[in-house]
Amino acid sequence: MADLLDQHDHGAGADEDGLAYLHEVPQARPHIHEPRVFPEGFLWGAATSAHQVEGGNRNSDWWRWERQPGHIYDGSVSGEACDHYCRYEEDFDLAAELGNNAHRLSIEWARIEPEDGRFDPDEVLHYRRVLESLRKRGMKTMVTLWHFTLPQWFADQGGWESRRAVAKFTRYAAFVARELSDVVDFWITINEPTIYCGQSYGSGAWPPGVRNQFRLARVFLRLARAHREAYRLLRAEAKGAGRDIPVAFANNIVTFEPYRSYSLADANFIRIADFLYNRLFMSLTRGYHDFIGINYYFHYRVKYVPTKMSQFFFEVHTENREVSDLGWEIHAPGIFEALMSMSRYKLPIYITENGIASADDGKRPRSLVSWIKEVYHAIQAGADVRGYFHWALLDNFEWEKGFSGRFGLVAIDYQTQKRTPRRSFFVYQDICRTNGLRHDLLRFMGHGVRW
Ligand code: FCB
Repeated sequence: MADLLDQHDHGAGADEDGLAYLHEVPQARPHIHEPRVFPEGFLWGAATSAHQVEGGNRNSDWWRWERQPGHIYDGSVSGEACDHYCRYEEDFDLAAELGNNAHRLSIEWARIEPEDGRFDPDEVLHYRRVLESLRKRGMKTMVTLWHFTLPQWFADQGGWESRRAVAKFTRYAAFVARELSDVVDFWITINEPTIYCGQSYGSGAWPPGVRNQFRLARVFLRLARAHREAYRLLRAEAKGAGRDIPVAFANNIVTFEPYRSYSLADANFIRIADFLYNRLFMSLTRGYHDFIGINYYFHYRVKYVPTKMSQFFFEVHTENREVSDLGWEIHAPGIFEALMSMSRYKLPIYITENGIASADDGKRPRSLVSWIKEVYHAIQAGADVRGYFHWALLDNFEWEKGFSGRFGLVAIDYQTQKRTPRRSFFVYQDICRTNGLRHDLLRFMGHGVRW
């Protein structure tokens, strides 16, 4: 580790990072600061979702959607993806090497129930092996039941708009709970309901490609009901088995900032946006969470534009801000803000996703260190944060962006399926293994540190 980081301080790598200027400013004398140590038992993990990494998800709505021209920006299809379905052992070796003591993944509904009411025992066995293989490596398992992809038959029946949708989802959830509860440590019912609704029924970028705010609202309410019912049955199932398996959904949190600091319209707009976007689903499912799952990627500097109804009346501005490969603003203090804001619910919090698209890994080490530092400060400030899952362990199929968004701590060569840990892999490894942030790592934020 030291060698690896060292090269970048003194070698050619420093220029590539844009960190060369550090050598021009007067350096502080060698000094030692206290490391930022996280609470004992803190969970350090990485996350993936089935469709994005497994490959061969033929019975899902995305499989068909990807093949229709114009749906995926770079024209790719998920295809074999990372072949994680077959290579999970190798991938979990990497997670173990990272020093992870937990891992988040999703179970693919379209595999478990490829036809309405027909459950596939081989797929259950597959996921049992997957989860056992994590536990064998000493990792806790956080399992998402539904991460955006639907079985094709369910989509054909109208998806979440069908009146039978909640019953069908809970039938699947109950089946999985019965079969796999003994190898699951945390349940996530639904991943990012707001993002799903926005993409699938607002912008229409995801299947079923609808742009209709009334239909969006209906699906949103239905997802809230699906969560509540799934929560009830997952709790009952665990109780019956004499286990305590906490249940939550993963909430994509956006931190908002007014574009024009003098504008009352912008300031009021962000209050409403914060409620609708970050807290409405929480309110609709109040009492049905054992913890809070936060996925943090977005800081929006927003301008209220009354004429832009189709865009929910706002524009996001990123000029003069640092952005990721996908143009998402990088704003580390946002994670602190998100954690403090969600602390109001007085529940344990897990960061269930956080990461950045950075193909050359240039911005990932610095972002990672800055985020973890903000998480540390949030804990100091009273937030009950119990774990952090980095998105993602591997590069993967980034929905409508295809394979162009590279989020992995491990790079994937999609031609050969070769896995190569990026530099940020070793930065995160240092964090996980030491259960915190050694002061030395602050160098990635441009802080002068001598080794
Ligand atoms: C989140 C999704 C995840 C991944 C990341 C980059 O919104 O949950 O599947 O696409 O964004």
